[in-house]
Amino acid sequence: MAYTDKTRGMYSDILTGMKDAGLFKQERYIHSAQAADIIVEFPEGAELKKVINICANNYLGLSSHPEVVKAAHAGLDSHGYGMSSVRFICGTQDIHKKLEKMVTEFLGTEDTILFPSCMDANAGVFEAVLTKDDVMISDRLVHASIIDGIRLCSAMHDTFKHSDMGHLEEKLQLHNDKRQKMVITDGVFSMDGDTAKLDQMAELCEKYDAMLFCDESHSS
Ligand SMILES: Cc1ncc(COP(=O)(O)O)c(C=O)c1O
Repeated sequence: MAYTDKTRGMYSDILTGMKDAGLFKQERYIHSAQAADIIVEFPEGAELKKVINICANNYLGLSSHPEVVKAAHAGLDSHGYGMSSVRFICGTQDIHKKLEKMVTEFLGTEDTILFPSCMDANAGVFEAVLTKDDVMISDRLVHASIIDGIRLCSAMHDTFKHSDMGHLEEKLQLHNDKRQKMVITDGVFSMDGDTAKLDQMAELCEKYDAMLFCDESHSS
C-alpha cells in the first residue's frame, strides 16, 4: 500500500492516542499448544513464562486432544491442506458432508451447514434468509459478531432489553406486519455467562409466527 508522509503522520497520531488512553492492545505470543497451562512471551522479547489460560474457548481441551490431532493428520494425508476454493465454487468435500450429517444427528436438526468460525456464520446467516421486508429483533447483549451480521442485512433491526420477555413481546406486536420476524439471542451470553430464556422465547415466537435464532457458541 502506498501512502504519503501526511497519511503516515495521521495514523501515527491515532496510535499514540490509543497508547496514551491505555487502549492499545499488544499480542501475547504463545509458544505451546493451547491448553489450561500455556507458555507465553510478553511483551515481545521477554523471557518465556508458564501461565494459566482462562480466556480461550478450548473448554474441553479438544484443540490438542490426541484423537483430534490424529484425525487432522489423517485428513491432511487423504485430502491435502486447504480447499483451494470457497464452498460456493468447488470447496465442498465428502468429509464436510459426512461431518454435517453427524452434527445434524447429534443436534436433532433438519440439516447443518458448516462455517470455518461462528464469526463467519453470523456474518452470513441473516442476509441469506431475510430481506428488506423483514425485521430482526435482537437481545441487547448479543455477541458483537451477530451485530456485524445484522449490519450486513437489509432487514429492519430492533432490540429488546436483555432477557426481558415483556419487552420482546411488545416488539413482536410492534413489528407484526412484517413479512418475517426473527428473534435473535445468544444461548449462553458470552460476557455475563447467563442463560437465555429459550423456552419462553420459543413460546412467544410460536404465538407471533416468528423465527428464533440462537447462537450456541457457549452452550452446545
Ligand atoms: C456468542 C459468540 N458468538 C460468536 C463468537 C465468535 O466465534 P468464533 O471465534 O468461532 O468466530 C463468539 C466468540 O467467542 C461468541 O462468544
